[in-house]
Amino acid sequence: MTEAESPRTPDGRPFRDQPRWRRDFPIDVAEDAYVARRDFAKYVVLVSGAFATGQVSMLLRSALARRAPAPPRLRIASVVDVPVGGAIAFRYPADGDPCLLIRRREGEFLAYGSECTHLMCAVLPEVAKGRLRCPCHQGYFDLSTGRPIAGPPRRALPTVTLDVRDGEIYATGVRLESQ
Ligand code: FES
Repeated sequence: MTEAESPRTPDGRPFRDQPRWRRDFPIDVAEDAYVARRDFAKYVVLVSGAFATGQVSMLLRSALARRAPAPPRLRIASVVDVPVGGAIAFRYPADGDPCLLIRRREGEFLAYGSECTHLMCAVLPEVAKGRLRCPCHQGYFDLSTGRPIAGPPRRALPTVTLDVRDGEIYATGVRLESQ
């Protein structure tokens, strides 16, 4: 290797004066910096692309959600079917969406999706204690709001909106915490 062909060294001394290990594994410092800049530029482009893709997909999803049909109105039960302090299970808005209808007091009905927002175990109503309990990891939700109050869950249970009319109870929609 001639002097002109020698790789540029980090300390500027001639290649022949470099330690043995560096002569065995020669790296051209300027070339190395160029490759690092090129890799960085690639990384920036990739991250920007991923970010832009994420934004576009969020926009698409929200546009699709706005166009989604209104949730169905579904008769759940008659008022007389649910004892005060009791609860019944139903599915809404689809067959794969288990929910609980709870009659806390004489004229007060509440309904929530019954899958725990931690790892989807079924929650159990504890009406006298004003909460719903998930037995899997002792997660608790406020019976009035569906919000988590203890244990691992961080998100509220979906709230099913109700319409009680002429002795019948209907589900009319699902509300998530952020809405
Ligand atoms: S699944 Fe409910 S607390 Fe973990």
